[in-house]
Amino acid sequence: MDHFLYRDGALFAEDVPVAEIAKAVGTPFYVYSTATLLRHYRLFDEALEGVDHTVCYAMKAASNQAILRTLAQAGAGMDVVSGGEYLRAKAAGVPGDRIVFSGVGKTADEIRLALEGGVRQFNVESEPEMEVLSAVATELGQTAPITVRINPDVDARTHAKIATGKSENKFGIPISRAREVYAHAARLPGLEVVGIDVHIGSQLTELEPFEQAYTKVAELTEILRGDGHDIRRLDLGGGLGIPYVRDNLAPPLPLDYGAMVKRVLGHLGCEIEIEPGRLIAGNAGLLVSEVIYVKSGEGRDFLILDAAMNDLIRPAMYEAWHDIVPVTEPDPGEVRAVYDIVGPVCETGDTFARARAMPPVAAGDLVAFRSAGAYGAVMSSEYNSRPLIPEVLVKGDQFAVIRRRPTFDEMINRDTIPEWL
Ligand code: LLP
Repeated sequence: MDHFLYRDGALFAEDVPVAEIAKAVGTPFYVYSTATLLRHYRLFDEALEGVDHTVCYAMKAASNQAILRTLAQAGAGMDVVSGGEYLRAKAAGVPGDRIVFSGVGKTADEIRLALEGGVRQFNVESEPEMEVLSAVATELGQTAPITVRINPDVDARTHAKIATGKSENKFGIPISRAREVYAHAARLPGLEVVGIDVHIGSQLTELEPFEQAYTKVAELTEILRGDGHDIRRLDLGGGLGIPYVRDNLAPPLPLDYGAMVKRVLGHLGCEIEIEPGRLIAGNAGLLVSEVIYVKSGEGRDFLILDAAMNDLIRPAMYEAWHDIVPVTEPDPGEVRAVYDIVGPVCETGDTFARARAMPPVAAGDLVAFRSAGAYGAVMSSEYNSRPLIPEVLVKGDQFAVIRRRPTFDEMINRDTIPEWL
């Protein structure tokens, strides 16, 4: 559920007409709903009621500081995967002891940054990383809390580019080697093993793969405890999917996910951490764009938008579907037209949708991409020298620009021309 609904014939973001924001900031832009962000965070928080838990928002999904602060004020921790994300979370006011540091290639500098600024734990992904972490922590006279990310070799049944839990993926250590790796960790100075980490992929639409992975984590917890490790925290990753297509059967709800977690892992008495990203931010954001031209082609019509693949890469990268709706509510009985919906970037991959049935739209009309809050703005680029687009946050009847559109000069002046030219 989100807070982008039609009212009196116009699409609203909470209590603000989307067209009003477009008038104020120009198109294209991203707009997020505070109420939707908070609702989704709370769904997870409530789903884990009864067990000691922390919801660490995977900020890679949408990392504007205003979003981070909104969630942190509600009690969320953060899952970060780079020095930049770590510093951004800190800048948004998230305390270090609520920040979990994940990622397959943490550098010594990033590790130092997090140890100096405070961190809840590192989710270590390999033995070489463990050794670097041990060396940096020892040098700083600190003890770094760690979990080891295990790769459970489970098929997440999602898009190949976002599946992470099979043995051929680069993530984690094979579960078959877990005992030796934990023994290695226990021998290294400057490390304290606190638990186990797992994350099998993103946009999962069934609970079964999670359950398979968590069952393996439960077994491993007992085994590692038997080996003398104090396993007291389980980080279960993120990955629960969202309904991108409204008419489809919705993926399982956080409540069902939470019930499964408690059933499979509750008896262990561990603190539970989860790292949802998409489910918190995905349906909390729209990408709003204007139709520049309607162009008739050979046997098809193109809607040429002012947003492009550099603003929202998901359709080009994952063949992802985003519902695209007019900002002015269509009449229910209106005949639909079929369009290829594209951006102005100079490659065919800059296609948002093919043969999409839409209410007829004309040049100058506004359209909104639904479910664009996660992996939208964060994955954008300046390809074709198109400046990054603004982000806007709505709360009730107020809205604020939370990242403004840079000027062309700001973008261009980042280049430096060598003296010899
Ligand atoms: N934890 C870890 C360690 C992760 O790698 C990820 C996502 C998450 C949590 C959050 O997963 P979520 O709850 O959002 O599914 N750009 C792709 C998605 C990449 C996901 C990467 N890792 C997309 O647009 O679909």
